[in-house]
Amino acid sequence: MTGYDTADVLVVGSGIAGCAAALAAAREGADVLVVTKATRPEDASTDWAQGGISTTRGDPESLKADVLAASDGTADEDAIDVLLEDADDAVEDVLLETLEVEFDEAGDDFDYTREAGHSVRRILHVDATTGTHILRPFLEYLDDHERVEIRQDTAALELLTHEGRVHGVVTDEKADGNPVYAGATVLATGGVGVLYPRSTNPDDATGDGIAMAALAGAEVADLEYVQFHPTAFDGDDPFLLSEALRGEGAVLRNGDGERFMPDYHPDADLAPRDVVARAVAREREGTDEVVLDVSTLEDEFEADYPAIAEKCRDRGIDGDEIPVAPCEHFLCGGIDVDDRGRTSLDRLYAVGECARTGVHGANRLASTSLLEGLVWGLRAGADAVGNGNDGEVIEAPDLRNSDPELPERFAAEKFVRLQRTMDEYLGLERDLEDVARAGAVLRRLKGEVDAYTRTRTSRSLYELRHACVTALLIARSAAENPESRGCHYVVDEGANQAEPETPADD
Ligand code: SIN
Repeated sequence: MTGYDTADVLVVGSGIAGCAAALAAAREGADVLVVTKATRPEDASTDWAQGGISTTRGDPESLKADVLAASDGTADEDAIDVLLEDADDAVEDVLLETLEVEFDEAGDDFDYTREAGHSVRRILHVDATTGTHILRPFLEYLDDHERVEIRQDTAALELLTHEGRVHGVVTDEKADGNPVYAGATVLATGGVGVLYPRSTNPDDATGDGIAMAALAGAEVADLEYVQFHPTAFDGDDPFLLSEALRGEGAVLRNGDGERFMPDYHPDADLAPRDVVARAVAREREGTDEVVLDVSTLEDEFEADYPAIAEKCRDRGIDGDEIPVAPCEHFLCGGIDVDDRGRTSLDRLYAVGECARTGVHGANRLASTSLLEGLVWGLRAGADAVGNGNDGEVIEAPDLRNSDPELPERFAAEKFVRLQRTMDEYLGLERDLEDVARAGAVLRRLKGEVDAYTRTRTSRSLYELRHACVTALLIARSAAENPESRGCHYVVDEGANQAEPETPADD
């Protein structure tokens, strides 16, 4: 074997969870290597996070009740307790003291905002560009840290495993693969947006970590719970219209200009996200028209949400009514981990969206993902250090790169089929017979991809393979769960129907 890299702790992914893991491990004295396939480390999902980061605001029990209610009673109470135990210290220590994030203020306090499912104002934010204002200083801080190296444009392709222990990953840094051996490996690879035609994720969210971990034998859980955001811009190149807008008074209206959320849920526009998403889809049937009316905002749309307002203007919207449709947003399940981010494989950790901690259950409460990533990232990074790097070097798989043109075309074609299948059968509403049909289509697709990659490979083929594996796992979880809960809505099961409950009281 010619040439390889080593690290005490290897982190795959450069969002808030990966950064937190790197920070905690470096603080413990470990040499940390962060690899990200993005050409700029800041191009992680965290950078796209708008609403904010929840705090307990001195009342953890009330946040716990809201997390549980949003999850339809399915979230793991022990996991929520872990989150609440660390939440405020992590925000104080890392975000306020270390990174000096300047959250919006009102008078002599923070300007706490509110989103759907939150019974009180407790969300810290920087207008609606909170993720950017956390991630950029985080990466700058780590970049200056003597124990941390960040390597961009470096995709992790496979885990290096031997007898149930993970020894690192193979990256695509060299044409025939570059092994990175590590005492512990932390997957922080984000979500699965690319599995769907419309998503609020960056366009490289191909489920890499979940697929690599599952292929190596790690346990995964709750993958049927794919969260759709109710208010993404309805048009090409969708973008998020933060739930904070509804938290501050914006309302949804149907094609007749009528408010409809009061008919679906007592909390109206601030009902749990899955309920609002299905209601928006229902109201769009036949008309394709639902708008978010920002004229009712207590805030100033242009002044308080400048980034969103600019995106609307760029797409020719200059009035108060913004066309919206649901769109894939967040995977609530993932690689199963414990309270320290440990997976079922020795020396493999998972944090952030690719992990399933149990905090979200069947439906995630708004503005808890940055917090979960921060808390579990810190826990996993600190725990990972104890493993050391025993210097064991195992044989890395041989990668066969070929003419890049050919795999690119093949991958692009197959991605279209994959997205169409997921959209049609594993979207907001699921019919279990269709889910089984989707499983068969996805199995065939994966077979074609496996056959093709026997003789050649490239980053996009690995991404396609990871996407197929993750899609199949989602289809399998959905097929195995006949019960409608949160984001997994089984049409013929009958429960939790997105039908109006009471006459409109607008
Ligand atoms: C939003 O700003 O609406 C998204 C917040 C979240 O997904 O937590």
